[in-house]
Amino acid sequence: MDKKPFIIMVASQKGGVGKTTVAINLAAALTYQDYRVLLVDTDVDSFSIMEHLGIKGVGNGFKEIVTGKAELENSLFVYQNMDLSIILGSPADEATIFKPDQLVKFYAQLAKQNYDFIILDTKPGMFPNTIARYLNDVIIVATPDSPSIASSAKLASYCEKLKVPRRLVINRAGYSKYEMSKEDTERLFGDVTFVTVPEDKIVPESLAKQKPVYLIDRGSPFAAAIDQIARVYTLKAGDVQESGTRKRKGFFAKLIGWGAKAEAK
Ligand SMILES: Nc1ncnc2c1ncn2[C@@H]1O[C@H](COP(=O)(O)OP(=O)(O)O)[C@@H](O)[C@H]1O
Ligand SMILES: [Mg+2]
Repeated sequence: MDKKPFIIMVASQKGGVGKTTVAINLAAALTYQDYRVLLVDTDVDSFSIMEHLGIKGVGNGFKEIVTGKAELENSLFVYQNMDLSIILGSPADEATIFKPDQLVKFYAQLAKQNYDFIILDTKPGMFPNTIARYLNDVIIVATPDSPSIASSAKLASYCEKLKVPRRLVINRAGYSKYEMSKEDTERLFGDVTFVTVPEDKIVPESLAKQKPVYLIDRGSPFAAAIDQIARVYTLKAGDVQESGTRKRKGFFAKLIGWGAKAEAK
């Protein structure tokens, strides 16, 4: 039975705040719960998901699909460690400017794919307003410092203008003793924080091992915060379960399989 995927954009107004890290691990957390997840690397300016996961030398990705050089269905990469589908990025040597109608066509096609969740990893900055109607939710990632929070407030009002639900995730909490307090953050952002993700040494370790944190230590504080984010979406997807579209592969069988894989490393 087909149903519309729930499309989550992981965005930020400033770079290097942890969008890719959050996007990959949220995708892993939802996949782990047997939801069908497609992760899309829309950041054409940087090496992101491929680098984070150590994926090398693959074919077509986001850019080729958007520009009509490749078919979406033929450009899916399956990350075997977790049975997670990914549309990979392909950073260009020059500025890539997509035509608005190409992007709209891409997102319209995404919205018809048979997944429970589609997670978009993005480059910093505001997304084109023409794609707003395809987004079910925007996670705004920020670090607990005033430039990041103030910029996030701008992105949040942009989302509000476009009537796209958005929530603030504070990442790398505890990194600096000068970080903004929760109260000051919320005052500057103008709304409550959705989830606070701690600074955690498991994250650089996962980058060095080129695996999601979720495959290395699901008990880590970082993974716990990601679970907290995932929970809100799985609650939203309650009706998804009832319609029987979940893979239902056998949660415990999978758990053992994953454990073994994670241990083997
Ligand atoms: N919670 C965290 N704890 C420790 N390091 C983190 C955390 N989140 C992100 N990082 C590190 O910050 C850097 C930027 O993260 P990344 O996800 O690539 O950001 P972005 O996609 O926003 O540019 C990476 O080196 C990553 O390992
Ligand atoms: Mg990134």
